[in-house]
Amino acid sequence: MPTVPHRILVTGAAGAVGRAVCRALGERGHAVRGFDRSPAPELADFVQGDLAESRALGGACDGVDTIIHLAANPTDAPFLERLVPDNIVGTWRVFEAAALRGVGRVIFASTLQVVDGLPREPGRSLGVDAGTACRNLYAATKVLGEEIARVYAHRHGLSTLAARIGWLPRGAYDVETLRRSPAARDIYLGRGDCGRFFCCAVEATRPAPGESAVLYATSLALGPAPFDPAPAERLIGYAARERWPEGLGELG
Ligand SMILES: NC(=O)c1ccc[n+]([C@@H]2O[C@H](COP(=O)([O-])OP(=O)(O)OC[C@H]3O[C@@H](n4cnc5c(N)ncnc54)[C@H](O)[C@@H]3O)[C@@H](O)[C@H]2O)c1
Repeated sequence: MPTVPHRILVTGAAGAVGRAVCRALGERGHAVRGFDRSPAPELADFVQGDLAESRALGGACDGVDTIIHLAANPTDAPFLERLVPDNIVGTWRVFEAAALRGVGRVIFASTLQVVDGLPREPGRSLGVDAGTACRNLYAATKVLGEEIARVYAHRHGLSTLAARIGWLPRGAYDVETLRRSPAARDIYLGRGDCGRFFCCAVEATRPAPGESAVLYATSLALGPAPFDPAPAERLIGYAARERWPEGLGELG
């Protein structure tokens, strides 16, 4: 159990990642408040609203020490209509609210897709410092999010962490695709590991105030790790325990 229970706002709490994260944080004894435009009936402390509603978002940030920012369009949705307001402006609003309200740490949900276009050497793990190369605009919004996180650490003294999340299936269709694609299973993220990653990210002493970090958040690969797991273990003490198809939860 953590020595200090944290007060955490989870945006996107009604989504697939959000549900796994809120459950794990609650089981660790943290006080969790959810924020989402969709309802999350399983959460006792929940604010229903859109990231565009500054009053609702600001109020939801009151009294929290950590924000886990997951709310976004998780696919390559229409750019101007969906990705710009939700993934770009919404992310800026969350960091701005955090800085204004003195929130200590913001953990931002990025994606492995930010490195999709990088050249790979078979059998070698990709480092977190290998740069980015996007193949779609959704991933490009996440690169911008990683950079926004860096700016708010540098300029406002926040502790920020961007988690490049692997593939956590949102429904039966994703599970079927993973079953049929051996390569995709190497980017899999089980629900148990997802919960553990975010608990580690909340409880770790680093990144320190003013410091930003980027980490991969995946489960164990079937073969050699395609994404270097060492930085996450060093910085926040996260070590994956699940391997496809473990951790599918209710989708298993
Ligand atoms: N599931 C994955 O495999 C995966 C992989 C990499 C990154 N991610 C990232 O993790 C985060 C969560 O993804 P998910 O799979 O849970 O997606 P999801 O669609 O299941 O959940 C996203 C949630 O965010 C909410 N939301 C979106 N825009 C909002 C807004 N403007 N205001 C309020 N709420 C809003 C939605 O209502 C939804 O409940 C996203 O940022 C996504 O990009 C997910």
